[in-house]
Amino acid sequence: MLIRIMELTATQFISDSPLLLPAGEVQLWPVSIQDFACGSKELAMLLSAEETGRMKQFRFPQDRLRFLVAHGLLRRMIGQYLNIASGRILLESGSKGKPELYGKHGQELFAFNISHSHNLVVLAFARAHKLGVDVEHIRCMPDFPEIVACFFHPQEKAAFQRHPYGARQQAFFDCWTCKEAFVKATGEGLNRSLDSFCITSNSENNNTRLNVTGEGISTASWNIAPFRPAPGYAGAVAFEV
Ligand SMILES: CC(C)(COP(=O)(O)OP(=O)(O)OC[C@H]1O[C@@H](n2cnc3c(N)ncnc32)[C@H](O)[C@@H]1OP(=O)(O)O)[C@@H](O)C(=O)NCCC(=O)NCCS
Repeated sequence: MLIRIMELTATQFISDSPLLLPAGEVQLWPVSIQDFACGSKELAMLLSAEETGRMKQFRFPQDRLRFLVAHGLLRRMIGQYLNIASGRILLESGSKGKPELYGKHGQELFAFNISHSHNLVVLAFARAHKLGVDVEHIRCMPDFPEIVACFFHPQEKAAFQRHPYGARQQAFFDCWTCKEAFVKATGEGLNRSLDSFCITSNSENNNTRLNVTGEGISTASWNIAPFRPAPGYAGAVAFEV
């Protein structure tokens, strides 16, 4: 599968032209939430009543805007990919929270997932069975050594310790986003213990694709691909081929 980082232009946002999703491509759309603040009225009209209710529960305007951009664009883009009116898109969350399409369009080979962090939202789409994306704002986290100790697999811990101190913050977010992308692709989310599987590098492909190993995981079926969504952010996408 080819990973394509897409750019959502203002013209594309206001047009209703279809989006093409060829088999064999994962399309990733990183969007800065500020760029869509002026389109918030249009986006708000696309949300379901349940989503509007969730958005209103956020106390801070920035959090409301992030939610609105993520969920409004998701509905709009699903509509453009599948050629359906946004209002007819039926989404439901599985028992572990993963949103999926249901009804007629739920039968198509079409997967999506979203992630948001700080000022960035990433929307991912592919003609795959399973897809998960994660993005993290790279920030100072004094407790990341403890997080590594608690949540990384022993092999990941050893790889992390091999990084010089100055490179550990980046190394932490790189590994973390890969792990989250994988549990989001399976739909288990944090119900799966993060040290129960291991993200390993694959020197054959220059680390553009990583492997995932662990009990019950068919390593050959999975692809984990790190990507740079925007300066100051780490991202990864996981998909089952
Ligand atoms: C999914 C999860 C890993 C998200 O991690 P995160 O880094 O905090 O958040 P991200 O921004 O990357 O992703 C959030 C989005 O992923 C999607 N999502 C939610 N649960 C998901 C799951 N189990 N698998 C895949 N995607 C999921 C949603 O679209 C969500 O957006 P929203 O919060 O605006 O509705 C984490 O929240 C989790 O494990 N949740 C499970 C909670 C649970 O078990 N809920 C029970 C039923 S509701």
